[in-house]
Amino acid sequence: MKPKIILGCDHAGFDLKNIIIKYLEKKGYDITDAGTYEEKTCDYPIIAKEVAQRVATKEFEKGILICGTGIGMSIVANKVKGIRAAVVSDTCSAKMSRLHNDSNILCFGARIIGTELAKDIVDIWLNTTFLEERHLKRLEMIEN
Ligand code: RB5
Repeated sequence: MKPKIILGCDHAGFDLKNIIIKYLEKKGYDITDAGTYEEKTCDYPIIAKEVAQRVATKEFEKGILICGTGIGMSIVANKVKGIRAAVVSDTCSAKMSRLHNDSNILCFGARIIGTELAKDIVDIWLNTTFLEERHLKRLEMIEN
């Protein structure tokens, strides 16, 4: 069963978000688009907060946030309890953020990485399972 995923972006991530949504829908994922829905300048904290809260309440298993760098989105998302957002620009970090950190929100920057790398990162991130073992204790430490 594929996870329910919510995506959000600001104006800088708008085009890449639409590409990723189409890409994931073709693969059969159940996608919800939390906006922004136009290229007009907007404030990423509003979108990041909504996506993070909807992942934290378990309405969605995973979230993806795209802005210019991925950084602003991740800063906001990580303020929501239960969220482990990772800013990723390479496939190794995407994999490790799942294996060791059980990241539940993936952030990246449309001004930092290209479309094909973004697709690879998303694929690896969605298909890598958390290792638990010694890492579960560390996640509990983050929570507490
Ligand atoms: C918008 O210009 C830009 O600041 C935003 O997309 C993001 O990169 C913030 O971290």
